[in-house]
Amino acid sequence: MYRTKTCGELRLADVNQTVTLAGWVQRTRKLGGMTFVDLRDRYGITQLTFNQEVDAGLCEKANKLGREFVIQATGIVKERSNKNTNLPTGEIEIIVSELNILHAADTPPFTIEEESDGGDDIRMQYRYLDLRRPNVRKNLELRHKMAFEVRRYLDEQGFLEVETPVLIKSTPEGARDFVVPSRMNPGQFYALPQSPQTLKQLLMVSGFDRYFQIAKCFRDEDLRADRQPEFTQVDCEMSFVEQEDILQIFEGMMKHLFKYIKGLDMNEPFPRMLWSDAMKYYGSDKPDIRFGMRFVELKDLTEGRNFVVFDSAPYVAGICAEGCASYTRKQLDGLTEFVKRPQIGAKGLVYVRCEADGTFKSSVDKFYSQEDLKAWADRFDAKPGDLMLILSGDKAKTQKALGELRLEMGNRLGLRDKNVFAPLWVIDFPMFEWDEETQRFYAMHHPFTSPKKEDLHLLDDDPGKVRANAYDMVINGVELGGGSIRIHDSELQDKMFQVLGFTPEQAQEQFGFLMNAFKFGAPPHGGLAFGLDRMVSMFAGLDSIRDCIAFPKNNSGRDVMMDAPSEIADAQLDELSLVVDIKK
Ligand code: AMO
Repeated sequence: MYRTKTCGELRLADVNQTVTLAGWVQRTRKLGGMTFVDLRDRYGITQLTFNQEVDAGLCEKANKLGREFVIQATGIVKERSNKNTNLPTGEIEIIVSELNILHAADTPPFTIEEESDGGDDIRMQYRYLDLRRPNVRKNLELRHKMAFEVRRYLDEQGFLEVETPVLIKSTPEGARDFVVPSRMNPGQFYALPQSPQTLKQLLMVSGFDRYFQIAKCFRDEDLRADRQPEFTQVDCEMSFVEQEDILQIFEGMMKHLFKYIKGLDMNEPFPRMLWSDAMKYYGSDKPDIRFGMRFVELKDLTEGRNFVVFDSAPYVAGICAEGCASYTRKQLDGLTEFVKRPQIGAKGLVYVRCEADGTFKSSVDKFYSQEDLKAWADRFDAKPGDLMLILSGDKAKTQKALGELRLEMGNRLGLRDKNVFAPLWVIDFPMFEWDEETQRFYAMHHPFTSPKKEDLHLLDDDPGKVRANAYDMVINGVELGGGSIRIHDSELQDKMFQVLGFTPEQAQEQFGFLMNAFKFGAPPHGGLAFGLDRMVSMFAGLDSIRDCIAFPKNNSGRDVMMDAPSEIADAQLDELSLVVDIKK
């Protein structure tokens, strides 16, 4: 046996036992004639002690141990004289009588401690060393627990886990596909699934009724803190259900996870917000409702005072930042710079300070009287001491910018506490999104999403107004999951493809396998998928989903540890009948 105990389990009650431990040397310290070694494994750290006077040879061996040597030590558990209260094993130490070096180690490129001295790039290059750090390991432990609890809950609800292939035909989900050349079919490519969407619908046609899968998905899209090119979904689909059934089951799943992972009882039903309200009051389809600061529209109150910026804008609205009237000129300039950033895109920011004496000071005093500003403040429900921040311009763009400003103010005012969880469902998404560039409609969710029955009559004349049976679960401003009730009527599906600009031939070419399957009896069905990486990082309070993925990609989509992607040998290209001709 390499070990009889782990480095995390010995306590005072174990004193005088003889034990064998194995692990990595975290560090060694020499104090007079004593040498102390912190030994680390997955379970914790235990202090090994060597005494020059008792066994000089053994102590000498311990003195030569370098960081990250893999060793095995046998000795007796003793109570420590100077206890370390920060360590669960801090009350004991092992008086070592036998030491084996199992593997010497090169000096690691950074220290393997809670707060490492390694920069991001170097930690990613040596990710296997980074993973030795307890905080990174804890994220993966949480991930394991999350996947386990997901399976437990869904199993209890009668869901079957079915694996679906990773080499498939391109599925349209809006992002670019990763493709894989086929050696046996020269010139032809598989696509890696952006999600198992069409396959899970086929499983419904097969009668599986309740399916789930913890599935790898691949999307060739620009990366952000909450996006990876390969990520994991908790993918689910159900037959003979309506939207309400799905919301109930998966709200139940989220509550189960909060209860068994975070110890939080969420007894209240999750609020539901119409997509149109989410945009109107928060400027986002994933509102962070841990705090208020809802948008207030002002256009009607601003007109006719010769302020061209507002007069020429179709939309004028703002937020009220409580207690911020004392913001200095510099702070306000900082906010103006914030909204003018290219990714936010506002042209400027109007502020109104509600002074303690009931008067107002604003950046538009030249145009608006105290009475005007009082009317604004009334609509904002602003009190003396508050600060109104107002943007104007094109409606959709301004809502988005104001949404960013709201989040920024939420951050500045400490209203976005990571230990507070504010879930909600956003429902009634629009069916289509108009794309200016290509001058056509795109499915906001995907082409299999069913429109609301009561909006069907709008499909021909005003598709932009058609709402979908689509829903997202949002927590703290993060879209954790989303899905829809699907179309299971071929005629309606054909109509959908038509609105989306597909010819019948194109539709058949791309989705024929699904449409043909439906002809053999498709049950009414619907489902959703959660981003597992996002759930774990939310539960762990992480800033990026990378930190809960064992081997993530960097922002350029590279695995810097394996150095992928990389070129392949000519022989491999030949076998695949491929010629690389990189366009400059
Ligand atoms: P959707 O595209 O909304 O829906 O994806 C579902 C969930 O997957 C997560 N997610 C991601 N996580 C990390 N990196 C990414 N690049 C990434 N992209 C998406 C999000 C998101 O909410 N087939 C449909 C679901 C359905 O209709 O049943 C789908 O994939 O948390």
